[in-house]
Amino acid sequence: MSSRRIWKQYLETLQSAGVTFLPKVHLPEPVPVREKRPRSRSAPAARRSDHAGSSRLLPPEKLQPEKIQPVPMLDATADILNESPETTEQKSEALCRLAEVVAGCRRCSALADTRNQTVFGVGHADAQIMFIGEAPGADEDRLGEPFVGRAGQLLNRIIEACGLKREELYICNILRCRPPGNRNPLPQEAANCREFLDAQIRIVQPEYIVCWGTVAARNLLNEKRPIGRLRGSFHDYEGIPVLCTYHPSYLLRNPSAKKDVWQDMKILMKKLGLPLPE
Ligand code: URA
Ligand code: URA
Repeated sequence: MSSRRIWKQYLETLQSAGVTFLPKVHLPEPVPVREKRPRSRSAPAARRSDHAGSSRLLPPEKLQPEKIQPVPMLDATADILNESPETTEQKSEALCRLAEVVAGCRRCSALADTRNQTVFGVGHADAQIMFIGEAPGADEDRLGEPFVGRAGQLLNRIIEACGLKREELYICNILRCRPPGNRNPLPQEAANCREFLDAQIRIVQPEYIVCWGTVAARNLLNEKRPIGRLRGSFHDYEGIPVLCTYHPSYLLRNPSAKKDVWQDMKILMKKLGLPLPE
């Protein structure tokens, strides 16, 4: 028997039993059939944003760029800068006062909870060249000074090879607290610490800045390009020429990049009138 006849008989039975009304049943909306696209094997993640709005794929909040909360300058930092230190002694004193402000900073509460101490910066208050790294590692967190671990030892050898002295430079980082497990600084952490970096640059007033690695270069210059693109020529930070090069930790993992750093150091030293041997 066909299903149509079965249904007809069934309805006739209901009718004879006095059922004249059948309630309307709510049926779900039909699910639209999505056009099938050939799947790219190489870049499935990159294609996800094509489908923004589909609940099966990335949630919309994951597709938004991370929002960085604005960080108003602390009065204590503003007071230090307002005094516009000029002499080496004034600069030195301003840096000491700023280091105390930094020591009490808890803007990044997770970093403040896990740090042994803040790592402010070290060197000559009136340095001609400022080095900027990424963030303290375990050794720096323990000793309170930037670049004192394995990467720091390589940096010291680079400084010597350039005929420079560590104590005539000023050395600091994008972050003044160690990120747990040496993970990269988060954008909000870099924003929270920016006031101190900017203040250190304004106090020291270096003639040149060297950014060591991607994190330093991208954050200082507000750049998206990778370090391989940024290295090899000068950029500008508020009128100060900025040279970017590979991070010493990267050189420890990729010794073949040392020749590129040497090239970059030659560019810097030529500008300083102290050319290096080929
Ligand atoms: N790496 C950095 O970027 N900074 C330090 O101070 C130490 C290691
Ligand atoms: N990636 C980094 O973070 N730094 C480098 O110097 C090179 C690659």
